[in-house]
Amino acid sequence: MDPAALRAEFPVFERTAYLNAGTCGPLPRGAAQAVADVLAHAASDGRASAYFAALLEHRDHLRSSYAGLLRAATDDIALTTCTSEGIVRVLAALDLGPGDEVLTSDEEHPGLQGPLAAARRQRGIEIRVVAFAQIADAVGPRTKLVACSHVSWVNGRVVPDLSQLADDVPVLLDGAQGVGAVPTDVAALGCSFYAGPGQKWLCGPVGSGMLYVAPGWRDRLPATGPTYLNLADPAAGLDAVPQAGAARHDASALSLETLAATTASLGVLGDAGWSAVHERGAALAQQLADALGARGREIAPRDRTTLVSWQEPDPSAARELLAQAGVIVRDLPGTGLLRASVGAWNDASDLDRLLSALP
Ligand SMILES: Cc1ncc(COP(=O)(O)O)c(C=O)c1O
Repeated sequence: MDPAALRAEFPVFERTAYLNAGTCGPLPRGAAQAVADVLAHAASDGRASAYFAALLEHRDHLRSSYAGLLRAATDDIALTTCTSEGIVRVLAALDLGPGDEVLTSDEEHPGLQGPLAAARRQRGIEIRVVAFAQIADAVGPRTKLVACSHVSWVNGRVVPDLSQLADDVPVLLDGAQGVGAVPTDVAALGCSFYAGPGQKWLCGPVGSGMLYVAPGWRDRLPATGPTYLNLADPAAGLDAVPQAGAARHDASALSLETLAATTASLGVLGDAGWSAVHERGAALAQQLADALGARGREIAPRDRTTLVSWQEPDPSAARELLAQAGVIVRDLPGTGLLRASVGAWNDASDLDRLLSALP
C-alpha cells in the first residue's frame, strides 16, 4: 500500500490536516464500519453464542497482533482499555510499601503520575523525580521500580537505555507515544512492563490497549481483580485460579465493537507495512522540525520519533488559530509548547498547511 492509499483510508484528511495522533490517532473508515456492522448485527440478531465466539476470536487475534508489534510472546500480552489501565494494574499488583522508592522522570503524563501519587498517599511509597535524560544513571540502592515513558509526550525524546538494570529493579514503561509510532522491542528496552494504548498510534477506538508483562514477572505479578475471563477455568467457582499468562490481567469488559474496530485499524496499518509506517512517520516529523526551525521556531530537543514540539508565545491561542485553518495539533499546558503528531498517514500538504497557518 503506497502512502496515498494509506492516507485515503482516513476520512479525516478530506477536511483537516490532522496532526494529533499523540492524543488520538485518525480513525480508518474500516474501523468505523466494523463498529457499525457489529452493532447492526447485535441489534438485529441479539448477542448470544455467535457474538461471544467472535469476541473470543478477536481477543486472540489482537493479543497476537500486539505481541508482534512489541516483539513479545503472545502469552505475555494482556488486553486493556488504555495505557493508564496497564499502569494502574502493575502499580496495584507490585509489592510496594512504606519507604520503597519509585524513580520517575520530570516529563511524565498524568496517566502515570496519578497512579504514582495514589500509591504514595495510600501505601507510603517514596517518589523521586529526575530529568528524563538522567533516569538510567539515577537508579539508587533504594529504587524498587523505575516508571517512565518510552517516548516523552512533551518533546518526543526516547528513554535512555535501561536494559542494564537487573530484574530486581523492574522497569515500567509508559508506551503511550511509543507503540505504533516507533519500532518497539520490549526485550531490547529491558522493561518488565510496557503499557500502551490502542487509540493513539495504532489508530484504534478509545477503549483499546495492551500491557506486556515480561516472562520473569509472569508468576510474580498477581492479578489484582481476576473476573471470569481472567480465570483458567471459570467453572471451578471459588477454586478457580487466574490464567497462567498475562491474560490474567485482561480488562474484563471489552466489547466486540471495540475489538472489531481495533482489528480493522491494525489491519490497515499492517497492510501498509509496519516498518514503512515507522519510517515515514519519523521522516515526515523530522521534515516538519526542520521547516519550523528554518522559520525561527525553537524546537524542543527530540529524537527520531513522531512528535514535534516547539515554543509559541501563546500556545493555546496558536492551537485555536490553527484549528480554524483546519490544522489539528495540541498545546501542552504549562510548557509554552505546541505539539504536532506526525504519522505515516500525513503528507507534505499537512505540513505546508500547518506552516502557512502559523501565527
Ligand atoms: C505519555 C502518556 N501517557 C499516558 C497517556 C494516557 O493514555 P491513555 O488514555 O491511553 O491511558 C498519554 C495520553 O496522551 C500520554 O501521552
